[in-house]
Formats: sequence, structure tokens, C-alpha cells
Amino acid sequence: MTQLEELLAGWIPRQRWFAGKGIPIEKVVVEAEHSVVPGEPGMRVLVVDVGQRGSISRYQVLLGSRPPGTLREELTHAAIGVCELPGHGTACTVYDAAHDPELTGLLLERIAVGAVSGSVRFHRLPGTAIRTGLRSLVLTGEQSNTSLVYGEDYVLKTFRRLWPGRNPDLELTSALSGCPFVARPHGWIEADLTDDGQAVPTTLAMLQQYLRSATDGWALAAISVRDLYAAPDIAPGEAGGDFAGEAERLGAATASVHRALARELPTDVLTPRGLRELAGSMLDRLRLAISEVPELAPYAGALRTAYEAFARVEEPLPVQRVHGDYHLGQVVRTDSGWVLLDFEGEPAAPVGERQRPSSPLRDVAGMLRSFDYAARHQLIGKACEKSLAPVARAWARRNREAFCLGYAFGGGVNPEKYQTVLRAFEYDKAVYEVMYEARNRPSWLRIPLESIAALAGAAP
Ligand SMILES: Nc1ncnc2c1ncn2[C@@H]1O[C@H](COP(=O)(O)OP(=O)(O)O)[C@@H](O)[C@H]1O
Ligand SMILES: [Mg+2]
Repeated sequence: MTQLEELLAGWIPRQRWFAGKGIPIEKVVVEAEHSVVPGEPGMRVLVVDVGQRGSISRYQVLLGSRPPGTLREELTHAAIGVCELPGHGTACTVYDAAHDPELTGLLLERIAVGAVSGSVRFHRLPGTAIRTGLRSLVLTGEQSNTSLVYGEDYVLKTFRRLWPGRNPDLELTSALSGCPFVARPHGWIEADLTDDGQAVPTTLAMLQQYLRSATDGWALAAISVRDLYAAPDIAPGEAGGDFAGEAERLGAATASVHRALARELPTDVLTPRGLRELAGSMLDRLRLAISEVPELAPYAGALRTAYEAFARVEEPLPVQRVHGDYHLGQVVRTDSGWVLLDFEGEPAAPVGERQRPSSPLRDVAGMLRSFDYAARHQLIGKACEKSLAPVARAWARRNREAFCLGYAFGGGVNPEKYQTVLRAFEYDKAVYEVMYEARNRPSWLRIPLESIAALAGAAP
């Protein structure tokens, strides 16, 4: 490994966006290095291959470089180390350039003019004018990616995990441009990534409108739940912080986005064979989950029955492009209503897989599971957990019903009429959550397990 790769091997696992936490790193290789800002301070886009358990994941690092000892104090938290960079001759301090507004400002300028910096291409969407000279700040809600806010105008989302191809977030957000429930896209940055010896244009970052008045859906739901727990004798509908109106509007916004996606992008109908294959992949996930989490075994029968019923559904199941990773943390409430964000899908899956049409009811199921989490997570480990459990269930049920009603009003299918399909998707999501919680957050494992128990208990 080069000096830089050694430094990255120590730094990458500590980053929030690194998906392979807890698994030993076998190797780190800088696969490609694109100089974007030459000189000092300099900026390079690195494509870094991280090898774990015999497989490789690719990550993007925006690497800033400055002469040693010249990193300003406010950037020291972003430091990666000191090393010699290829073609540089002398040692320099390298750091995460996403935190350096002096460098990130140049990214905005380049998008504004549609520049080409070596092999990195900057694009501005036709019909948009971009204001430059704005300072950027890294958004603190960082999860799988790193988003920079420029002034109060734009968000530049830099994708951390890279897969060859156009990122579905850019693809879907562009297809939905003009939809009131989506933040307007303004441009993107791309470079070629090698895939099977072919150079594939790959999205590195996407620029979109910053929603100034946005409040996170998860945070809003959590406030409503907290209000209710403070006065548990009041029915959810009468509580001051009732969320049902919001849930209904969110359902309508979701349906509207689904309809727009079906208009703009290919749709299909799942063949009986496709349906069986989908049910088969749910069964595979269940098997894997049971092998990791034996507490799931008592419900295996009910889950299998639900998946088998799903495989036998006779009415045609329409499929289309969907959000793919839909939950309360992916929607924000603005002054003018709900806005859906982050159409990237599941970042751990290859782009080709995420582009496959799916049932919009999968997104509905994702949001319904999120209501369950919102209702339950504040009770974990609290003395009042048992006594408040019925209140949590009432909150989740009320908002679930409101969301489904809004979804049907908004022109989506009525989820209540597709119980077999919806139930299979909800189970499948909960099984995924069981594995996720067992691996990452064992104290929360009860949330999906108890939901599965409740769903299984209510099964016809
Ligand atoms: N255009 C935007 N306007 C306002 N806030 C945003 C915008 N885009 C993202 N955010 C905030 O940043 C968070 C993370 O963004 P998201 O696109 O979901 O990235 P990730 O892939 O890291 O989850 C969102 O939950 C939201 O709070
Ligand atoms: Mg997100």
C-alpha cells in the first residue's frame, strides 16, 4: 500500500458513511485519482477500493491537500494525515475537502459553467441558472453520503459508495423535475468508472435546491409521539401533537410521486414467474435472518405462509420505478408541504438491481414500518415501556391508516385492498430490520421482532 492508502485504511472505517463497519479491512487501493483543483490547496477526487471478506466496495473521497502545518484550525477535524502524493514530490497534509469551503466553492463554479477538469465532467441542467460565490457547510444529518449546503440555495450531495452508472437519485430526481414534492435538481458531477474493462459514466455528486424550511419527517413524528407519551390517557386523535393530518398528506404526496414516476419512466406488470421469484428472494432473506437471529424462528411459519400467498396472487401486480429506501428520515416537511428526498435506493445494492421496477407498495410498506419505529423507539429501555406499548400501537395504527387513506386519495392504489402484497412487503422489510438491528443495534431488535409477532398474530 502507498502512504496515502495506509492513511485511508485508518481513516475510512471511522467515517459515518462507511458501510462495512466492524468487518476487518483486507486492503485499500486508490483505483483512480482525478485532479480537480491543481496546486495548493489542491483537490482530487479519489475512487478508493476497500477490500473486505474477499469483496471490494468503492468509495469516493474528495481529497484536499495543503503544505504540512498550514491546515486551518477549523479543518483539523477533517485531517487524514501527512503523506507524499504521487507526482507531488514533497509531503503534504491531506484531509477531507468536503469541509473546506475554499475548495468546495470551486465545485459550484464548475457546475455553473459546465466545466471539464481532466476526466471529471461538471453538468448544469439546461434552464437553470446557478448562483456562485456561496460558502458551503457540511450537513450534519450525514448518513450514507456527504451533503454540502451552499448558502441557503443548494445542496450538493456527494455520493460516497460508488457503483458504475448514473445514480438513481439523479435519474429519478431529474425525471421528477417540476414535481412539487421533490427538490429541484440543478446539475451533477460525473467521471468514468471502469466496469468489466468498460468506462462507464458514473455520478459523483448531485446538485439540488436546498429546502430552507425543511423539517425532518422522523423528527416531526418523534415530537408527536413524545407529546402523546406525556399524556398517555388521551387518545392519539385528541392529542395536541396528532400526526395523522401530516401522515395523510404524506400519503397523498407519495402517491403523487409514484404516479409521476410511472408517467416518466418505464412500467411493467409482474408475471406469475416474476412474482414467484420475488417471493423466493423473501424466503431466502428469511432463511438467512433465522440463521443469524434464532428468536425469529417461532414466526417462520406465519412468514412463509404470507410469502406463499404473495407468490399466488392472481391479479397482475404493476411495477415501476420506486423510491426504494422509503422511511420518515427520507421526507421533509416544508412550508408548502412534504418533499421526498434521497431516491438513491439501497446504496448497498448495485445500480442495475436498484433500477429494476418494483411495486410502489414496497415504498408504502417501508413507510408503514417507519411509523412503527417512530412509535416504539423512544420506549426502548424505559421503565414505562410495557405500560405505554398500547399507546405506541395506537399511534402507529392511526398514522398507518391516515397514510393509506392519503395514498388512495392521492391517486395511488388503495393499500388496504392489496393486503396480501402489502403484508409480504412489510414482513420482508421487518425481516431485513431484524438482521440490521441484530448486527448494529441489538437493543432495538425488539421493535421489528414484536411487529412480526403482532402481524403474525393478526394473520388470517
Ligand atoms: N435539498 C435538501 N434540502 C434540505 N435538506 C436536505 C436536502 N437534501 C437533504 N437534506 C437533509 O439531509 C438529510 C440527508 O439527505 P439524504 O439525501 O437522505 O442523504 P443520505 O443518502 O446521506 O441519507 C435529509 O434527511 C435532510 O434532512
Ligand atoms: Mg437518506
